[in-house]
Amino acid sequence: MRDYERWHEQYDDPAAPLSWRLGVVRAAIDADLDRRSGPVRVLSVCSGDGRDLLGVLSGRPDAGRVTGTLLELHPAIAERARTAAAPFPGIEVRTADAGDSGSYVGAAPADLVLVVGVLGNLSNADLIRTVAATPQLCTAGATLVWTRAVRPDAGNDEIRRGFAAAGFRELTYLEFGGPGADQPAVGVVRFTATPVPLEVGPRLFTFVR
Ligand SMILES: C[S@@+](CC[C@H](N)C(=O)[O-])C[C@H]1O[C@@H](n2cnc3c(N)ncnc32)[C@H](O)[C@@H]1O
Repeated sequence: MRDYERWHEQYDDPAAPLSWRLGVVRAAIDADLDRRSGPVRVLSVCSGDGRDLLGVLSGRPDAGRVTGTLLELHPAIAERARTAAAPFPGIEVRTADAGDSGSYVGAAPADLVLVVGVLGNLSNADLIRTVAATPQLCTAGATLVWTRAVRPDAGNDEIRRGFAAAGFRELTYLEFGGPGADQPAVGVVRFTATPVPLEVGPRLFTFVR
């Protein structure tokens, strides 16, 4: 696997495509919290250091109504997320394999699900399986934020169709800049189908890079 500690250093450049992605994801999180009153449960799949959700919560006086779980495999990155989450006692950081469906017990379903920086690191079979399984992570009416870079040889149409087939309505889909290799894209979808229980056992994915 890549050195994901170094990967996070890309955020140091505010002009980097990844920083654009972070801004779009944060705006989607903020907007979703604005539209909900009362408690909100969040789940972040492969959360990294959690700067998307935790960055938003840092600026919100109502952060106390947000609870949830961040799943991150890398112990040092998870520890950074735990430190950043310390002001938010409702947020648990699990050092866990998010490809293992058992890691979601007690964390799913959630009202706001982040699948950010995940789908572009999977084989096509795992990607399709994971998108199809996301209803298991969602409450009725949940919002799910996903990302995947657009490559010259691979757009995101299959993913968008996959979410539609799994019972999601697309709210927004944005691509960074113009044509080019590895430009990030962000999709926001709403789960409009009937919730399904978490199926513990089947593996969802393994990162290929
Ligand atoms: C591309 S980064 C995205 C991090 C974060 N979501 C973001 O957008 O800033 C992918 C993250 O997934 C983590 N990761 C890789 N495989 C994982 C797995 N099986 N379970 C949980 N986390 C995993 C990596 O350590 C890394 O922090």
